[in-house]
Amino acid sequence: MQTIRGFRDILPEHISLWQRVEQEAFSLFESFGFKEIRIPVLEKTDLFARSIGETTDIVEKEMYTFPDRKGGHLTLRPEATASICRSYIQHKMYATDPLRKFYMTGPMFRRERPQKGRYRQFYQIDAEVFGIESAYIDAELIFLLNELFKRLGLTGLTAHINSLGCPECRPSFQRALLDFLGERKELLCENCTRRIQKNPLRILDCKVESCQQALQGAPATIDHLCPACADHFDIVTTTLKKQGVEFMVDKSLVRGLDYYTRTAWEIKTTTLGAQSAVAGGGRYDGLVQELGGPATPAIGFAIGFDRLVEVMAQLEIETPKPPLDLFIIALGAAALEQAYHWSCELNQRGLRTEVDFRGKSLKSLMKRANKLNAAHVLIAGENELKENQLILRNMETKDQSSLSMDNLVPELINILKS
Ligand code: HAM
Repeated sequence: MQTIRGFRDILPEHISLWQRVEQEAFSLFESFGFKEIRIPVLEKTDLFARSIGETTDIVEKEMYTFPDRKGGHLTLRPEATASICRSYIQHKMYATDPLRKFYMTGPMFRRERPQKGRYRQFYQIDAEVFGIESAYIDAELIFLLNELFKRLGLTGLTAHINSLGCPECRPSFQRALLDFLGERKELLCENCTRRIQKNPLRILDCKVESCQQALQGAPATIDHLCPACADHFDIVTTTLKKQGVEFMVDKSLVRGLDYYTRTAWEIKTTTLGAQSAVAGGGRYDGLVQELGGPATPAIGFAIGFDRLVEVMAQLEIETPKPPLDLFIIALGAAALEQAYHWSCELNQRGLRTEVDFRGKSLKSLMKRANKLNAAHVLIAGENELKENQLILRNMETKDQSSLSMDNLVPELINILKS
């Protein structure tokens, strides 16, 4: 039996980078006032279709959707923003305190063509803020991401930032884009030709070569902002500059989801080939209302967890594995019984201790202690038990001392914790 295409196991030998990222990210989120939320992996299809947009690649061709037995359709979540909005509305969080900051991590599902850095089940670390219109929160989220990547030791990342405008300025931009594309229609791919009237902004995100060619010199949202959007964007960029956060304004950045308004960004790397975005986010001031809640400004981002770990591995960022404090070599039935109780008690008291219960020889158990990177080995053979003198070996210095069994556990704790 094998995993299905685009799905994979993350094995214990690779997990330490994942855990390190989670620890750094969660502790940073908590400092910035975020609270963890957990949401289902399965939702009604309609939630994603309405939020992400009917004419996006995600909704048109990448969702894992199936009919429910009782009618209706369900979808494995392709992202977290829509579900968190649903939760915010469903639990009427706006009524008790409209200002909410959430974070979560978990698997997302998109049926894309698998390649390096692109999977059909992948993981995101997601953060969302509801109820703040001020541009300082936009800057704060980009600052937070930058700080996280700095703490993780990542280099070679660039923040690309753009403003996509709001319902005030979008129509004038769309008119300008449609006028521009009017004479270049024959260059557009089939998909874009179909989408052009319904959702002209999607064309800007098309990767097809001829569409890219048609877009050479196309108008940019940022040149069509209303005064309020222009001021908003100005505060974001000025604030980041003051904080020394490096970024570039990227007029061509549009993002692959329809809900965005105003600030949108992606953090890109040069180390993963075509899959260059390790994080993406932006404002979505209309979505809560669109989904049936009160008008609520909102903003967030998601980090591609798999990609982040791949970049860290390429940069050879390692997390030292904590060694085993003690490996107990117990030879014979009586010693095994004793070792079982000592090790349970030591584990209970917070010391990483292991016994191998398979009844192997001294030589093979010493090998295993080395493999497990044990700091100390306790040897309890039949003779040692008889003489009430166990051997404790420091694996680094090779020093050996003898210990009586009478007060063994407290004695070991003393030695191992010092
Ligand atoms: P997104 O740009 O679709 O945004 O995804 C965010 C990140 O998830 C990407 O930058 C990428 O690193 C990672 N990612 C996406 N697809 C895959 C894949 N197939 N395999 C591996 N990694 C992938 C969102 O999902 C928005 N919900 C972000 C957001 C939150 N906007 C506002 N709030």
